[in-house]
Amino acid sequence: MKIAVTSASGQLGSTIVKNLIKEIGKENVVAIARTPQKAKHLGVKVRKGDYNNREQFNEALKGIDKVLLVSGMDEPKKRIQQHRNVIDAAKHNGVQKIVYTSIIGDEEKTAFRSIVKSNRQTEKDIQASGLDWVIGRNGIYIEPDLEYLETYIKEGEIRNCAADGKCAYTSREELGHAYTQMLLKDHLNNNRFNLAGESITQSDLAELINKVFQTNLKYNPVSVEAYAAERKVELGDFMGTIIAGIYEGIKIGVNDVSSDFEKVAQRPHQSSIEMIESYRNQHNKI
Ligand SMILES: NC(=O)c1ccc[n+]([C@@H]2O[C@H](COP(=O)([O-])OP(=O)(O)OC[C@H]3O[C@@H](n4cnc5c(N)ncnc54)[C@H](OP(=O)(O)O)[C@@H]3O)[C@@H](O)[C@H]2O)c1
Repeated sequence: MKIAVTSASGQLGSTIVKNLIKEIGKENVVAIARTPQKAKHLGVKVRKGDYNNREQFNEALKGIDKVLLVSGMDEPKKRIQQHRNVIDAAKHNGVQKIVYTSIIGDEEKTAFRSIVKSNRQTEKDIQASGLDWVIGRNGIYIEPDLEYLETYIKEGEIRNCAADGKCAYTSREELGHAYTQMLLKDHLNNNRFNLAGESITQSDLAELINKVFQTNLKYNPVSVEAYAAERKVELGDFMGTIIAGIYEGIKIGVNDVSSDFEKVAQRPHQSSIEMIESYRNQHNKI
């Protein structure tokens, strides 16, 4: 059985490839990447696949039995067609099963809605494809918060507009394990799963980071408008709006969901403190 993973040069794609190698051996895993040289280190066969190029995916998916489609990074409208290029090429090549990395979120209520809507459209396209499918809806990754730690320390606080809202975080490491099971275990087919851990507030997050990194961060909530304005200055209009929309979603509860992780992974999701410790250990941060 040959399994291909798209965006294999990225952090999530490469984590899934590494997990798959452990389960089925490197000869059965194909890494598809827009920039193949960035995936060479994985030690598996690498094929070229830019989501904008259907022809490349017609070639990349030859002889593949199952494909993992990592959701794209482009602006939402472009993503829908990019994902269709992969789905159509999978059909064309007689691929049996497609697994897609979607996202938890609300399609209407926040400034993150355009991304969520595009993910939901791809979910529909996959369900209508006639292939066997499994869809994961990912929680928010915890790693970006930890990558931001130096800024948090400099400012002495975690500041955003989530207020007392709870968020079920996950990590790429946990997702790598779950998606590997979703690819391999066919009894999971034709289902959608929320993939996340326990729900915590931003104050909880600050407290856990303090425990693991011996910092002294406080959580300070600001209004959605103030946070959006600040993020736009830092990240530009598009990204600033999206990031503020994510925290607005946490504030109104859209990320406080029950998780199906254990059903998929056959073990509990790591706790938040375990994810933070694991990040610290991997990145050698004290
Ligand atoms: N749940 C969350 O909190 C969260 C947060 C951020 C992102 N996401 C979503 O999760 C996905 C994976 O995240 P990640 O951490 O792995 O991101 P990442 O490390 O930044 O990797 C992004 C990957 O997308 C690839 N890519 C970009 N444009 C492409 C195109 N046109 N065709 C094919 N591949 C393309 C990049 O390839 P190159 O190496 O060629 O650049 C790279 O492999 C993201 O794409 C995004 O949809 C989720």
